Amino acid sequence: MARFAHKHTSSFSAKKLVFFILGAGLLVAALTADFLWASSSAYLSIASNWALEKTRIPNQDTKTAVRKEALKDKRESVPDRFLSATFADLPAPDLQWEEMAPAPVPRLDGYAIQIKNLLYVFAGYGTIDYVHTHVDVYNFTDNIWEERIDMPKEMAHSHLGIATDGRYIYIISGQYGPQCRGPTARSFVLDTKTKKWSSLPPLPTPRYAPATQLWRGRLHVMGGSKENRHTPALEHWSLAVKDGKALDKQWRTEIPIPRGGPHRACIAVNDRLFVIGGQEGDFMAKPGSPIFKCSRRNEVVYGDVYMLDDEMKWKVVPPMPKPDSHIECAWVIVNNSIIITGGTTEKHPATKRMTLVGEIFQFHLDSLTWSVIGKLPYRVKTTLAGFWDGYLYFTSGQRDRGPDNPQPRKVIGQTWRTKLSL
Ligand SMILES: *[C@@H]1O[C@H](CO)[C@@H](O)[C@H](O)[C@H]1NC(C)=O
Ligand SMILES: *[C@@H]1O[C@H](CO)[C@@H](O)[C@H](O)[C@H]1NC(C)=O
Repeated sequence: MARFAHKHTSSFSAKKLVFFILGAGLLVAALTADFLWASSSAYLSIASNWALEKTRIPNQDTKTAVRKEALKDKRESVPDRFLSATFADLPAPDLQWEEMAPAPVPRLDGYAIQIKNLLYVFAGYGTIDYVHTHVDVYNFTDNIWEERIDMPKEMAHSHLGIATDGRYIYIISGQYGPQCRGPTARSFVLDTKTKKWSSLPPLPTPRYAPATQLWRGRLHVMGGSKENRHTPALEHWSLAVKDGKALDKQWRTEIPIPRGGPHRACIAVNDRLFVIGGQEGDFMAKPGSPIFKCSRRNEVVYGDVYMLDDEMKWKVVPPMPKPDSHIECAWVIVNNSIIITGGTTEKHPATKRMTLVGEIFQFHLDSLTWSVIGKLPYRVKTTLAGFWDGYLYFTSGQRDRGPDNPQPRKVIGQTWRTKLSL
């Protein structure tokens, strides 16, 4: 396909650009460039050199050979950091994956809630310049995408907080619009029986991707990023809700979370509230850009796990096997454990490239310990996970550039399942 060929060409010439930048010591220029987005040309202009040793470069002219040597030197000068396990794939068993019907649209930063045999998949980016304004519904019994529900006009399109009581789905704040536009405090409720929307009192201030969960009759919303999209927030609020309606007039202040930031998993199970993984910092709008163009800023991804119980004090429990972010809806609860699929981990220490996660992690709720239980078909972030009839499902997200290259590339709608045996 022409499109594919074009990508190859531009990523090849982009390598030269990267080497030039590295050679000139202007790594910072690469860092502020936008290379999150598979669909944008800016992304393609900063291509991979992560697994160069294993990657065959077509058309090797002398210049390329010289540059390869230069890179080799560079690698030799940082051998220990290059082999750091922080970002590397962890050993994990292979699983048998079966490809199912793809989602009607590709989605990055989509959100999902499973209610019985249905997976409600919300919003998300189609491309960096286009966000979805609807919900797609997957039926695990039929294995089809059977329904589409339009969202309220004022509702955010990514970086949502989301939770359910088994009928009503609560959507709290988030980013309104494409690129790196501003956040809203507005919050909504979907009644999945009637397909009708209503609203909730807005959050005290807007947030990007706050950790959100319904726990003991109250919606808990904490962390996320502040209005500039980058500064981690520690604030924690709650709101009593019942049958899709707020019982309080406004949000109540709760104990702040020890570490802030967006893109974490937030799970209520066994009467405890867990907040898992996430990051500090995120892409920000370029100052003065009329389209709020995303530009990369420093991010610290972490694997910290915090737990709230009867005492209403945050307790630190063992961290994930590696730092992991973009996992808001990448989890399911199975047999007294939490299963988490994919995500992003720390950037590559030498190249600073964003690194995706391809492992499946299990958190045992009895022993509060972690294990790595399998591999996804590829590394992928912002997966939307479900569990039905013994199968672990995931759909959507942004996948890697290939087995040898964990950088993000294509935004996908693919859906997969595997029979889990824990
Ligand atoms: C899902 O699929 C099953 C099996 O065909 C069907 O009975 C059901 O009505 C579908 N929809 C919902 C909302 O469950
Ligand atoms: C969960 O536990 C039950 C009972 O031990 C077992 O039959 C089932 O296979 C387990 N589920 C998975 C996904 O391993």
